[in-house]
Order: sequence, then C-alpha cells, then structure tokens
Amino acid sequence: MTGGRELVMVSNRLPVDRVTNDDGSTSWRASPGGLVTAVQPIVEQLGCVWVGWAGSADEAVEPFELGAMRLVPIELSAEDIALYYEGFSNGTLWPLYHDVIAQPEYHREWWDRYRRVNQRFAEQVAATASEQAIVWVHDYQLQLVPAMLRELRPDLTIAFFLHIPFPPGRLFAQLPWRRQVVRGLLGADVIGFQQTTDAVAFRMAVERFTRAPALGNTIVLPASADGPSRTVLAQEFPISIDAESFAEIARRPETRERAKEIRADLGDPRIVMLGVDRLDYTKGIRHRLKAFNELLEDGELDPTDIVFVQVASPSRERVDAYRQLRDEVEGTVGRINGAHGTIGRAPLNYLHRGFTRDEMVALYLAADVLLVTPLRDGMNLVAKEYVACRDDERGVLVLSEFAGAADELRDALLVNPHDIEGLKAAIVRAAHMPREEQRRRMHALRRAVADNDVAHWAAGYLGAVRAAAESGEIGV
Ligand code: G6P
Repeated sequence: MTGGRELVMVSNRLPVDRVTNDDGSTSWRASPGGLVTAVQPIVEQLGCVWVGWAGSADEAVEPFELGAMRLVPIELSAEDIALYYEGFSNGTLWPLYHDVIAQPEYHREWWDRYRRVNQRFAEQVAATASEQAIVWVHDYQLQLVPAMLRELRPDLTIAFFLHIPFPPGRLFAQLPWRRQVVRGLLGADVIGFQQTTDAVAFRMAVERFTRAPALGNTIVLPASADGPSRTVLAQEFPISIDAESFAEIARRPETRERAKEIRADLGDPRIVMLGVDRLDYTKGIRHRLKAFNELLEDGELDPTDIVFVQVASPSRERVDAYRQLRDEVEGTVGRINGAHGTIGRAPLNYLHRGFTRDEMVALYLAADVLLVTPLRDGMNLVAKEYVACRDDERGVLVLSEFAGAADELRDALLVNPHDIEGLKAAIVRAAHMPREEQRRRMHALRRAVADNDVAHWAAGYLGAVRAAAESGEIGV
C-alpha cells in the first residue's frame, strides 16, 4: 500500500499512553479516541514509525518498539500541555471545528505555542523519516506540520487526515490565524476529510484565503519562492473500523457469556440502552439524559423495565468546559436515579471510565439500543462498532444526523439531538421496535459497514497518497 516506502505516522498522541500506577511503576495503555481505533489495524499490517506524545508532562522517553511499530516519543512540558494541547488545540480549535458548541477562545499566547510545538513535531519527523518516506500527519493538533515538514524535507510525500469536521466558512473565518492554518495544511500532497461537506468547506477556505484555485478535488498551487507549482488533493475519505476484528470478538462464546452476565447484573431488564462516549460536550450527553429523564417522568418509559448504561470515558479533565460538563452530567445522573430508582435498582448506570475492547463488545451485545447522539462528530466509530458486533441482526441504532457516520448508516433511526421531542420519540420507537424491523435495518447497516471497512478506507486513502508519491502530481 505504500509502494515499499517507509510509513511515518505523526499524531499528537502516540497510540499508547504512558501511565503511572499506584505503586509508582509505569505502564502503557491504549490511547483514547477514534483516531487510534481506526489507524491501529493499518499500522499492524504495514508496520510504521510513529511520532507522538506519550501523554504525560516533562517526561523524556526513549524510542521503543511495539509490535510492528517503532514509537518515537515527543516530550511536552507542562506549559506546552497547558498552551498547545489544552489551550489552542482543545480550547480554540476543537470547539471552533465543532460548530462552536462551546465558545472558542482566541489567545495569541496559545497560538504561539501551537506553532512552536508543531515546529518541534516537524523537526522530529524530519530527523526520523527515511529518504522518500510517506509521512501521514493526523488531526487538528498538527495542522501546521505539513508545510513545516515540506520545507525541511522536500523529498517526503506528505499526507494529512483531519479526523474531526472542518468548519463552514463563516466559522473558520473567526480564526485570527486562518491563513496560516490553510497554508500549513497545503504543505501536504493529499488532505483527507471525513465528509464531502468538510472537503468542500476546506477548498472554499483555500480559495478565499490563498486565492489558489480548486479544480474539482484538486487545488493548484502556483509556483512561488517556496517551490514550483504543485497540486494538492483535498477529498473526503470517510474513516472506518476493522469490522471483522470486532465481529470475531463478538462471536467468542466467552463474550456472549459476558453479555448475558452484564444483563443479569443489570437486573435482567426488558430493555438495555447504551451510550458510549468520551465525556465531551460535542457528544450530546446532556440532551440524551434530558430526553431519558422526561420519558421516565411522562411515564413513557418504565424505570423497572429499562436500564440505560452510559459509559463516559474521562477526557481533557483540566479544560474548563469539560470540568463543567462532568459536574453537570453527574448532577443529572444523581437526580434521575434519586427520582426514579427503587431499592437495589437505578435506571441509569453511569460509568466514568474506559473499558477494554473485549468488555466493550460484550456491552454492545448486551444492549438492545445504542444511542449515538452527538451535536457534531467527525465520524463516530462507536456506531460502526456496534453494528459490526451484531451478527445476530438484533439491536437498534439511534444516530444523530450530525455525526459523519449518518452519511453511510442511513438505516439507523436518524435524529436531530437538539429536538428533544424527536429524540424522545426515537428512543420510544427503538425500545418497542419489532424484531423483523430490527433485523431488516441491522442487515442493511451491517452491509454499509462491511462495504467500507478500514481496509477499504486505507486502500482508497493510501492509494491516493501513493499516486502522489509516484507521480509527484495528482491528475486533475
Ligand atoms: C478525538 C480526536 C483525537 C484525539 C481523541 C482523544 O478522537 O480526533 O485526535 O486524540 O479525540 O482526545 P485526547 O485529547 O485525549 O487526545
């Protein structure tokens, strides 16, 4: 897939985080988020060098091997984390790129550190990558790396993939450093987006802020002091999962046994509803809880008949908006259980932690309904994971129109999560959906996931990158 060239992955986080245990020893565990879920199976197959942060402050970690990967850690100081990661990446870009659900903050000091940390990543990659390697840069934390890297190492083929949405023009225009961001990205040969709307918004931003014309998916950069004329492919490549690896875990007898055990532990209710999210304000958890609470209050759901399990894995806990969200969600969970629970039974099972993949698959099998109701989401792989696990063709997926996955998963119950009445109606419909309708919908959903699994995605994306590497130019 890479035509014999070395593959270098670059992301803010390495695929594993270094954690300090209670006894002071350190170990590694899988990093949170969809980026790693999607990319891991590709690198296991192809092998790669992976440059990124190990997840803790002020710790120099030597490069090391992990399976088919060589991991090259980048050290971030406590100040880098505060200004570049919590500040510009997650206090400015994350909310701006997610429809300003939270208010983005624009601070010159954050931007300055973002630039400097991106430069450090570019320098590390330049020092690491072999001649003519393919370098694949990931996500919003590293948008300046492509241009910085091209300047240092013009021999490399540079690919960029944005895992989150690219904002519409009116919002992107707010960013005081919008030109620098566009120019940073244009250092790549191929820029991949989740949805067509993202790719279109980016190409419009290029035309507006650099005046380089786009011909279809291809942006033509005129010759300049930085180099000769070249083209950049900016196109959607909707990301996916390794569906078969989830299906395989789901087929294991011990997973099925564990799913039964989970239902028994929940008191064998008629309906188990599930939500699985990082605890992030983009995920629509507040709206989901509001709808659930109203349904219990109206008597449309019977708290002795249904249990809602909400897995909320801890995320970005030092950023204010996340702290507030946690307080609010946990207060709401307490109020709902206080009002509608009975002795030994709570309608809401809230779990503020991450789970292993095996345990997640058992939860998917135990769930009659999965609620994926983000206000905005680049793709949402949880929705695809659920579908991949349900080869019994049972279960109902309730999915937000504002998740990228809704483009492909048309047979889910699609909802607008802002419309609480609509959300409530979809939950009730899911809770009472006849088996035959579940089967028909799940069958179609499974086909959609199988048709674009991660191998298909990688072949399309890396195929385009390889074409760029081989021709030095993308055909128009
Ligand atoms: C999303 C982003 C990733 C990010 C992950 C976890 O999936 O697209 O870039 O790594 O969330 O967030 P964190 O801030 O903990 O890395």
